[in-house]
Amino acid sequence: MNRVYIKTYGCQMNERDSEAVAAMLRGRGYRIVDDENACDIMLLNTCSVRDAAEQKALGKAGYVSARKKRQPDFVIGILGCMAQNRGAAILDTLPDVDLVIGTQKFHQVPDYLDNLRAAREAGVPIGSSIVDIAEEAGSQNTIRDHLIDTADAGAGPDGEGPPPAPQVSAFVSIQQGCNMDCHFCIVPKTRGDERSRPMEAIVAECRSLASKGVREITLLGQIVTSYGRRDYAHTGGVSPFVQLLEKVHEIEGIERIRFTSPHPRGFKADLVEAYARLPKLCEYVHLPMQSGSDRILRAMNRPYSRERYRQIVEALRAAQPDMYFSTDIIVGYPGETEADFEQTRELFEACNYDMAYIFKYSIRSGTVAAELADQVPEAEKERRNQVLLDILRRNSGRRTASLIGTTQEVLVDGPDKTGRRFTGRTRGNRVCIFDADPRLIGQLVPLRIERASVSTLYGSLVLAGVDATAAEGASAATPLGAARSPHVSAA
Ligand code: 5AD
Repeated sequence: MNRVYIKTYGCQMNERDSEAVAAMLRGRGYRIVDDENACDIMLLNTCSVRDAAEQKALGKAGYVSARKKRQPDFVIGILGCMAQNRGAAILDTLPDVDLVIGTQKFHQVPDYLDNLRAAREAGVPIGSSIVDIAEEAGSQNTIRDHLIDTADAGAGPDGEGPPPAPQVSAFVSIQQGCNMDCHFCIVPKTRGDERSRPMEAIVAECRSLASKGVREITLLGQIVTSYGRRDYAHTGGVSPFVQLLEKVHEIEGIERIRFTSPHPRGFKADLVEAYARLPKLCEYVHLPMQSGSDRILRAMNRPYSRERYRQIVEALRAAQPDMYFSTDIIVGYPGETEADFEQTRELFEACNYDMAYIFKYSIRSGTVAAELADQVPEAEKERRNQVLLDILRRNSGRRTASLIGTTQEVLVDGPDKTGRRFTGRTRGNRVCIFDADPRLIGQLVPLRIERASVSTLYGSLVLAGVDATAAEGASAATPLGAARSPHVSAA
């Protein structure tokens, strides 16, 4: 009765929240399972950024409700952004949902499940749902547990599957909420006011992850570049966010640092210079443009111009010539004309993105843009979407092709989907597939790139001839980190 399946929709923040919920539940004796058909409790951690994401989760909840007929104690929970956005109204259409838990209450999920199970055991009639979408001071500090801390509890010799593979990369939540008021965006409603975690708590969490073998940290927040702006002063022109990057950079064992999502207005000189100054800061920037038209940027309440955006890209390329860029674009914002879109297309092409998330504008009720007339027809949004996707495919393909014949530093992540080969990522966040030895998981290794698809690289580890590691039966690849930084040991 304690098998929990968690399905996550949406962004990396949601994935991180789900992981924290899973870790808390494991700590309470629940079992986290991968098979949705073999669970007693299904939790859907939802996304509200676009209507399609909400509809997907609602459809899933409706579909799995039918299971209650043959499994009367089956529990369905809706967590996160859609729970926050729709609240108890979810129960109007989905009365079988047991839990509706908002974004500031993830840490209460174990208590609520305990209570629900106790009530059922005591014979309380099924049908009493729990809704909690209240705000809670300090809730930003509750997303801190990692599965890595409780890994032993869920797998291993007690028959629950093989021991987990070592975790190489981890997300760390540094902040919740956003105060920017972009006119298209539901996030300030679903995630609340901007609240940052204390720097020491974040650094302690990163240090603990490093001690457990994590090599790559991605700092997460809705607007990470504003991190700590109310809690910490700038020191010598360095923002609290860059101060945090510096502190994480000092942690022994952490080899790579990434972050998402920033705001263009956070890219002042201190952050740009950080790319030249902090070698662990990977040369991959997600820089949401949203639109390349000044008129539309103004309508969106995005406080920068296309020229300013272009300058940031240029400054970052100057600081780090090998930089990889990704972005978010919304096509078909209300009132976006062909001329506006042409401006976006031109800037999109000029920025030469390696990766991009292109969204068709979706009306979010309660936002300023939802009230605007002049909606762009769906077919036109789709056309604009395809124009940008074609450019992205070309640019991304050109970049990956240019890597053939080069040697890239790859952080070995684990087995690929087939289980026969391994995957890893370059510093530019390109997925690589290659043959390796399991002992190289968590190592930085040189990979010679031999082949590339639009977004994936295939290659061979650069062998260092016969050496000590080969003699021990490990792969003979030389971990780059061994030479670069003394705290990475060879396999
Ligand atoms: N419609 C379409 N895309 C949206 N995004 C946010 N709100 C909307 C909306 N109403 C996109 C933005 C944001 C990303 C996470 O989702 O591009 O950066």
